[in-house]
Amino acid sequence: MSDKNYENSLNTHYGRVGLGDRILSVLRDEMGMDLDAITTDDLSPVAEFHIGGQAATLELAQLAGMGAGMRVLDLGSGLGGPARTLAQHYGCKITGLDLTEEFCRVATMLTELCGMQDDVSFKHGNALDMPFDGGAFDLVWTQQAGMNIEDKLRLYQEAHRVLAAGGRLVFQEVLCGPVTPLHLPVPWAREADLSFLLPPDDVRDLLEQAGFREMVWRDVTAQYLDEYRKVAARTASPDGPPPLGVQLILGPDAGQMRKNVVRNLDEQRIVLVQSVLKKS
Ligand SMILES: C[S@@+](CC[C@H](N)C(=O)[O-])C[C@H]1O[C@@H](n2cnc3c(N)ncnc32)[C@H](O)[C@@H]1O
Repeated sequence: MSDKNYENSLNTHYGRVGLGDRILSVLRDEMGMDLDAITTDDLSPVAEFHIGGQAATLELAQLAGMGAGMRVLDLGSGLGGPARTLAQHYGCKITGLDLTEEFCRVATMLTELCGMQDDVSFKHGNALDMPFDGGAFDLVWTQQAGMNIEDKLRLYQEAHRVLAAGGRLVFQEVLCGPVTPLHLPVPWAREADLSFLLPPDDVRDLLEQAGFREMVWRDVTAQYLDEYRKVAARTASPDGPPPLGVQLILGPDAGQMRKNVVRNLDEQRIVLVQSVLKKS
């Protein structure tokens, strides 16, 4: 797929027109919330778009040794939930980079709604060709964006380039399990042409090739499976999911996508990994 076709497919998959207005209308009209008093935590059911939600972000941040004043880049920042959570809990400055234009717009709007625009900002761009100078960040963070990215060596080399000496790459990713193929659709792809999963050993080799030294590598599949099973069951239940959730992003097949994630995890077609690596 050409770069342009890839970008269009990604934007079609994630970038629902009117997403920001829909989120505001759910908060105000369906949940009766005061839009002048919205917090990062309030937004997390829709804006932390990965397995484990905000709890997984906080757990990963602890592993990462996140600290106040750090310059952090979030690759594939989505609606900015993780970035706002990190800024709020750790006092770091975060830049998000995402190739889905609508996500960048909505992430900026939600960040302003929370009054966090001095600490958190978003840029539209490709993680394979980052619009940042070498050594610009102390920490590169990414949660469940690599599944959409085929050229992982280039992704890790770019992360290495923008990190300062001794900086860290921190991620939570869905990787390929020992059983194939994947049951589709899943939240990151309706068709196989947007899903690029590699087995853990291949990913570790590529990270080493890119110049990273592994500090933490944890398979957290079992830890998150039961909770995700409950989330998936709620999404597909006849009563429907709670009004604020990722079904606002994914649309009517959100229930099927979440069921497939559970099935893929159960059948070892995918595994969930958290890792911390140091630039060497
Ligand atoms: C499943 S979402 C996760 C969003 C966010 N990390 C979170 O956990 O809430 C995957 C995100 O990766 C972004 N993405 C995929 N490929 C990308 C690329 N090549 N460059 C930048 N962003 C990308 C998508 O646009 C999407 O926002």
